[in-house]
Amino acid sequence: MNLFRRPAPSLDDLILDTAGNDLSSARLMPTVARPPQVFVRGQGSWLWDSDDRAYLDFSQGGAANSLGHSPQVLIKALSDQAQALINPGNGLYNRLQLNLVDRLCEHTGSDQGYLLNSGAQACEAAIKLARKWGQLHRGSAYRIITAGNGCHGRSFAAMSASSGGCDNRFEPQLPGFSHVPFNDLPALHAAVDAGTVAIMLEPIQAEAGVIPATEHYLKGVERLCRELGILLILDEVQTGIGRCGALLAEQQYGIRADIIMLGKGLGGGVPLAALLARGKACCFEVGELEGTHHGNALMASAGLAVLDTVLEHGFLEQVRESGCYLGEGLARLAYRYDHGQLRGQGLMWGLTLSDDSADAVVKAALHEGLILTAPQPNCLRFTPALTVSKSNIDEMLLRLARAFSRVRTAQLQCRKGIAV
Ligand SMILES: Cc1ncc(COP(=O)(O)O)c(C=O)c1O
Repeated sequence: MNLFRRPAPSLDDLILDTAGNDLSSARLMPTVARPPQVFVRGQGSWLWDSDDRAYLDFSQGGAANSLGHSPQVLIKALSDQAQALINPGNGLYNRLQLNLVDRLCEHTGSDQGYLLNSGAQACEAAIKLARKWGQLHRGSAYRIITAGNGCHGRSFAAMSASSGGCDNRFEPQLPGFSHVPFNDLPALHAAVDAGTVAIMLEPIQAEAGVIPATEHYLKGVERLCRELGILLILDEVQTGIGRCGALLAEQQYGIRADIIMLGKGLGGGVPLAALLARGKACCFEVGELEGTHHGNALMASAGLAVLDTVLEHGFLEQVRESGCYLGEGLARLAYRYDHGQLRGQGLMWGLTLSDDSADAVVKAALHEGLILTAPQPNCLRFTPALTVSKSNIDEMLLRLARAFSRVRTAQLQCRKGIAV
């Protein structure tokens, strides 16, 4: 499974403004396949395009907009902070950065934290921290074992850590990573050797199609790391900050990593990520991790607003309740349309289809005013706002049913055409 190859934009994807002018000659590098609509505003679970057409958004910027589009709490935090101080620079302290790291450590039981701008940066930082720890405690060991079909980001180190290593169009990759099948403890045992410094995993593999680790597996991985004295790194970029119905997915599994990567939902839609470390893993020193916008006060204010909201009494319980409602609705629909397996937790669900029609369904859904993503050719992913309502879910299911019907009809017509 190649997690990085997505189809190139096609001629269908001409960008037209409301006057019908073709904007596709714009100088944006065509690295991402996008539909032709241009989006101009959002509110909660809804987005509007430049023709003022409304779309129900069950992607939310790839699970980044944890509180939905433009929530009041984020608007207020960002505008208050923008008035006070946007960016003193990473070489100076700012109160927001200190507060957010404090709050994250307090609520996750971590000892140290650091703020960055993306999940890939958190991954880079986790790799650096593990290698530094290896230099100090494991006789210069630096190899990190990761799982097949895992995805940790698109920078060089993150690509190399991800499934199948670095995309072969960009060889050579960063050395020092081994990939073993996910949910396979014997394979992991066999792969660990004296050169191993850490095991890095997603509790639920997001890009692979929302594939959860089994509890037996993650507990076994934790035990293995403790026995061998190596680090456990959990990539909670997508699963963290309430997405799965707890602040961290590791809490639901009853395990404790040494290093945690956070991103996406932490900023509620602004670029913010975090690296958390516990106990022996806290070994970074001055000069070993820096970035111009790391700990940016404006971004940190967004993180604090999101974290405060997610930690409000009843919020996570509501995520679990909405998640069950969504899961049940999707299961009913999958049964009706003869689609396959449903996997997920909280408000992160993946539905495996009976064929490779996921891209066609995403396109048909867009036609029905519904935004979804397809991490795999046969899989749809649902990552709505954590604040999604039951009526939003009901409306989504109606639109998805219409999209399934559209695709079925097109498939039948196509088959008839071939038969003729
Ligand atoms: C589990 C996981 N880790 C890391 C990343 C990389 O995050 P970013 O795109 O913010 O660099 C992603 C992005 O999809 C992800 O799903």
